[in-house]
Amino acid sequence: MMKGSVATVADAIGNTPLVRLNRLAQGLKADIYCKLGYMNPGGSVKDRIALNIINQAEKRGQLKPGGTIIEATSGNTGMGLAIIAAARGYKCTFVMADKQSMEKVKALRAVGAKVVICPTDVEPEDPRSYYSVAKRLVAETPNSFYSNQYHNPDNTEAHYLSTGPELWTQTGGEIDAFVAGLGTGGTITGTGRYLKERKPEVALIGADIAGSVYYDFWKSGQIIEPYSYKVEGIGEDFFPTTIDLSIVDHCYQFNDKESFLMTRALSRQEGILTGGSGGTAVLAAIKYAEQIDRPANIVVLLPDSSVRYLNKIFDDDWMRENGFLDPEEGLGTIRDLLGVKPTPVISCQKADKIRDVVALMKSHGISQVPVLDGGQLAGIVTESALLDRIVSDGQDALDAAVASATTNAYEVVDPDAPVGLFANVFSQGKVIVVWERGEIRGLVTKIDVIDYLSHTQGAPR
Ligand SMILES: Cc1ncc(COP(=O)(O)O)c(C=O)c1O
Repeated sequence: MMKGSVATVADAIGNTPLVRLNRLAQGLKADIYCKLGYMNPGGSVKDRIALNIINQAEKRGQLKPGGTIIEATSGNTGMGLAIIAAARGYKCTFVMADKQSMEKVKALRAVGAKVVICPTDVEPEDPRSYYSVAKRLVAETPNSFYSNQYHNPDNTEAHYLSTGPELWTQTGGEIDAFVAGLGTGGTITGTGRYLKERKPEVALIGADIAGSVYYDFWKSGQIIEPYSYKVEGIGEDFFPTTIDLSIVDHCYQFNDKESFLMTRALSRQEGILTGGSGGTAVLAAIKYAEQIDRPANIVVLLPDSSVRYLNKIFDDDWMRENGFLDPEEGLGTIRDLLGVKPTPVISCQKADKIRDVVALMKSHGISQVPVLDGGQLAGIVTESALLDRIVSDGQDALDAAVASATTNAYEVVDPDAPVGLFANVFSQGKVIVVWERGEIRGLVTKIDVIDYLSHTQGAPR
């Protein structure tokens, strides 16, 4: 074996990076670190449970050479099982609910798995539910093994053996809180058990999705009538045996829209490419940080990758159709606009002569220039303001300081503001000065927006 390599894809599972949240954690006293579950070879944290489930089944003789692994999966566990199965010569059949993204189905078929799709809105006991269909397939398929992530203790144990110790070593024990979405509960229960054994004061925070039974049961012991939601992989309409809710110290619930908007923000503002359940988990981490309001190291697990949701969370039409994106948000942000047409910002100082500013505008072919007073914005000067000044004062005006010709026909805007909010700025004849961290990032005029919208057909993706 060559140095630096591993023998099979299964050996490449784990050792995922831990990345600090920066822009989205501004103003918090605690630090939030994201554990990038999507950096596993199958694209999700579920590779860890797939490996332990298969290893244990092989040890017990439940999975024999040439056997078929059957699972009811939202996709990620399937992918974990499928890559290990491919490397070890097993077959796979996966049963999925119809709300799961097509990317996940296609990705599983690409690894040679058979995928059976079942309706989402039926009771778990209904013969059409994906749990029931999985059980039936197990009974009908010779030499098959039902990996059963919802009731297999090897799921929870995988995190006790892998995610927990890995985080403990990676953080040198400096972890104060661990946040995970609640699906099968394997992640929070297994990781949490390990961390609490090492450091009992580690807080465990569960992130649930509105519509799921977990949050209310954790809070008050009540079992609500579950309803369907769009975030994939977390929340349940029943109680799997893989979860121990009593280990959870704090539990928060968020809805689809909040989760998806956070998922998009993670991608655009941090370059962290996670799916919807990662968005829910980060919301929970931020809420916990706000509530404790003191320095602490909070680790949040991001289960899977944005790549699996390009036709959903990252598709503005899908987001709008589902009411998750306001119409103006669909047009992207001022930063997106500047990205389409990056131009250097030409500015002048307020003591500069009008003559020199006219020359500057002519040489760059621009019709307005921001005027600075040292590092501060003092106004802008436009072609028409200069013309007015020269017409009324004659040639003498050319030697006056440009400060005397500035206008306040502008709006200072943060680059992350949605483009759609500014139609009225232009109808008032103003321009936009994009200002970030004490610097001008750009100047946006009506024609820039028209140009941007015609390039992006109104919706940057
Ligand atoms: C995308 C996604 N997020 C979160 C989870 C939840 O993890 P766990 O089942 O360990 O609670 C899963 C599990 O299916 C998942 O696929």
